[in-house]
Amino acid sequence: MTAQISSTFDRRREEFPTLASGIHLLSHSLGPVPRAAREAMLAYTDAWERHTSEDAWATSWWELSERVGDRIARLLGGASGSVQVQPNTSVALSVVASCFDFGAGGRNKVVTTALDFPSTAYIWEAQQRLGARVHVVASDDGISVPLERILEAIDETTCLVALSHTSYRSSYRVDARAIVERAHSAGALVVLDTYQSAGVLELKAEEWGADFLIGGTIKWLCGGPACGYLYVRPELQSELRPRLTGWVAHEEPFAFAREMRYAPTVRRFAQGTPNIPGLHSCLAGLDIIEEVGLERIAAESRRRTEWMVEFALEHGWRLNSPRGTQERGGSVMIGVEDAPRTAARLAERKVFVDWRPSVGLRISPHFFNTDEEVRDAMQILKEVMSDKEGLRTED
Ligand SMILES: Cc1ncc(COP(=O)(O)O)c(C=O)c1O
Repeated sequence: MTAQISSTFDRRREEFPTLASGIHLLSHSLGPVPRAAREAMLAYTDAWERHTSEDAWATSWWELSERVGDRIARLLGGASGSVQVQPNTSVALSVVASCFDFGAGGRNKVVTTALDFPSTAYIWEAQQRLGARVHVVASDDGISVPLERILEAIDETTCLVALSHTSYRSSYRVDARAIVERAHSAGALVVLDTYQSAGVLELKAEEWGADFLIGGTIKWLCGGPACGYLYVRPELQSELRPRLTGWVAHEEPFAFAREMRYAPTVRRFAQGTPNIPGLHSCLAGLDIIEEVGLERIAAESRRRTEWMVEFALEHGWRLNSPRGTQERGGSVMIGVEDAPRTAARLAERKVFVDWRPSVGLRISPHFFNTDEEVRDAMQILKEVMSDKEGLRTED
């Protein structure tokens, strides 16, 4: 492996206690916790002990959602005031869905793909009860979806194109710019699920003109199960009135008015009390990602995943991710005979990956992994795969 940029590059390994337990290649699922998250949680508890009244809202809680939202916005390529934190990605998508009146006799078609996370399918299935027509663009190989097929599915009846920017099952990455362009020319909006992209790729929400981005902090952002996020294109915000709402979305929440008047800011996409401890816990991860820099993180990801793809192909393994870097996110999926057992054997040897049905292993190097770790992990996988006996043995 040629390490072009790693010589002057601080991988911040000391800041992640989990890395001492083995080779962590799980950033598509569970990012390691930064050491500073513990301090942030303790500081939060200390402050909580000192609050004796509603002053907590005025002194810190109210502005925290905004602060975290703006930090996430930067990582998505969006401006301040474009992100409202959410309980999780599924709720964020439901908020988007609740902005549309599918049964009003107008546009009611929603375009998704077969490679999206299951929440997407469940949420759009539920919207069918309100009149949504869901068009799922098929994948022939379970790895990618031809761009032309997505573009062809967008027509004058489409209200929304809702798909993963990077797929959780193959790491397939769509051409966001082309999809937004086609959708807007047909009068439709676009929501991109960027959960598997944010923190490992350079995202360009504003440049793409994307209408919504959704995701969360637990994976590539090293932020734990703290919060989800919803980016809404600033010029679009005031046109939308989500049905999934609550008092925090009101223009004057503390007026306790009986009638809804949506906040003029991105807070109009909030619901109720924010997850304050969660918001404290995700800041350390966001700090590290910003300090290391997305350009460098993305370059490292490209370099190592390219090497892993080459290694897999050289050994005749089944690659369940696209070959081309431009079509791939930060993970490499490898089809193996018995994925659960292979993942368990790897864990015994301190290589931590996971698996999904009809996908195989999901393997994700992040900026904190050394080149040696990536090399060792692939070598150990080779040994495990050639040890047929070991794979057959019941524990
Ligand atoms: C691409 C993608 N979208 C959505 C989700 C679900 O996120 P949440 O649990 O925040 O709803 C996941 C979780 O793995 C995911 O990978």
